Amino acid sequence: MKVMVIGSGGREHAMVWKLAQSEKVERIYAAPGNGGTAGEENCENVDIPGGDPAETEIQEALVRYAVQERIDLTLVGPEPPLAAGIVDRFREASLAVVGPGAAAARLESSKSYAKTFMNKYGVRSARSYTFTGAEEALTAVRTHFGGANKNPPLVIKADGLAAGKGVVIAGSREEAIRTITAFMKDGVLGRAGKTIIIEEYLEGREVSILAAVSIVPGGNGVILPFVSARDHKRRFDGDRGPNTGGMGAVAPVPDFNAAAQKDFEAAILTPTLKGMEAEGFDYRGFIFFGLMVQNGKCRLLEYNVRLGDPETQAVLPLMDSDFAELCEAVEKGTLAGYCPVWKSGAVCAPVVVAAGYPGDYRQGDPIAFNETAFAKTGAILFAAGTVRGPGGPGGSGLHSAGGRVLATAACGADGAEARDRAYRALRAVHFEGMDYRRDIGEPQSR
Ligand code: AMP
Ligand code: GLY
Repeated sequence: MKVMVIGSGGREHAMVWKLAQSEKVERIYAAPGNGGTAGEENCENVDIPGGDPAETEIQEALVRYAVQERIDLTLVGPEPPLAAGIVDRFREASLAVVGPGAAAARLESSKSYAKTFMNKYGVRSARSYTFTGAEEALTAVRTHFGGANKNPPLVIKADGLAAGKGVVIAGSREEAIRTITAFMKDGVLGRAGKTIIIEEYLEGREVSILAAVSIVPGGNGVILPFVSARDHKRRFDGDRGPNTGGMGAVAPVPDFNAAAQKDFEAAILTPTLKGMEAEGFDYRGFIFFGLMVQNGKCRLLEYNVRLGDPETQAVLPLMDSDFAELCEAVEKGTLAGYCPVWKSGAVCAPVVVAAGYPGDYRQGDPIAFNETAFAKTGAILFAAGTVRGPGGPGGSGLHSAGGRVLATAACGADGAEARDRAYRALRAVHFEGMDYRRDIGEPQSR
């Protein structure tokens, strides 16, 4: 079959890499893809001029392309095109596509909608209040802190998609007031910040559970969780520095044990499934549960209506089953009979970023690559912000073109071995100004 993957990040390269191993897949189209997907056997990048798949014209062009090329199945990686209804457009054209429609995608694109859903269906999460007026929000903050600043922090979240800039953990009354003023009065996030959620601060460690979802109205829905994963969101070692899109991931999470998994399924997964069925969703795609876990008790921080980046780069290398077959089962609504097989061991996938990231970053540097040293580690190179370019001696044929440039994902018998291999692989890659965290997957890292 011919499969198209929409998106251009490391997650999409990992999806392409995994699809390429399937005997069922004859050709893969990455739209727009990146330097890494262009280099995968049997994969070509699809250049739709204008580029952004969240825009209506581009979505229509992608539908036309899928019809014309007789694409059998399309997978949508990132959230903006999902929120903008790309799946609805594909289905209207009778094209098979994996991802939620715009209605269900609100579970990610509107945090107040997600909280309403969680509360309605008893999904365990943090206590929260939604505010549409700045004065009410400011009054709530003043009451909470009571002037003494001795109370626990408050988490202030913009309702809409804000590319990682919409959540502030305010430790003091002043910080909370500043944030609310910036979001609601000054409009620093545009419409995304006009409604906010103020949420109780949760202690614990974060865990990401990616899952396949196959729910069609009137049918028996299934949410099939993958092995657990952990992203490391802060820019610098020791959980310091600004939040990023993700500096590296590991799978599975050693401190997420069978009891925690059971708690997650009872308190979060099952009520989510029941809620989606009760809402009459047609949800055939992936979901990402962002959990806070403390003493084996899970609370849901957020839903994302897609696979995680960089979690996917750590999870897919552990999947032994055919990913194309799984995606077909998701789309056809036959996931109930599907039981994926996982490899034993662990994966560590540190991310290499460009100088300046997550602020303005350097780009356009050729990426050198010591192929012999890299091959010895058995790692996989997942490219993210990259384009193909002239290689030069020792060149990989890749040039940096984004903040998060690539990840080196390595399997090991345990986390320590995976980490050792992934970092040895990473040292076989070089470009000007590159940087990375040295502590991805260390027991205390987050
Ligand atoms: P979100 O976009 O909701 O996942 O929030 C981004 C990050 O903020 C999360 O990954 C957590 O690190 C942190 N966070 C969000 N909500 C809370 C909470 N209620 N308590 C503590 N930390 C939180
Ligand atoms: N790794 C977090 C995300 O994909 O949103």
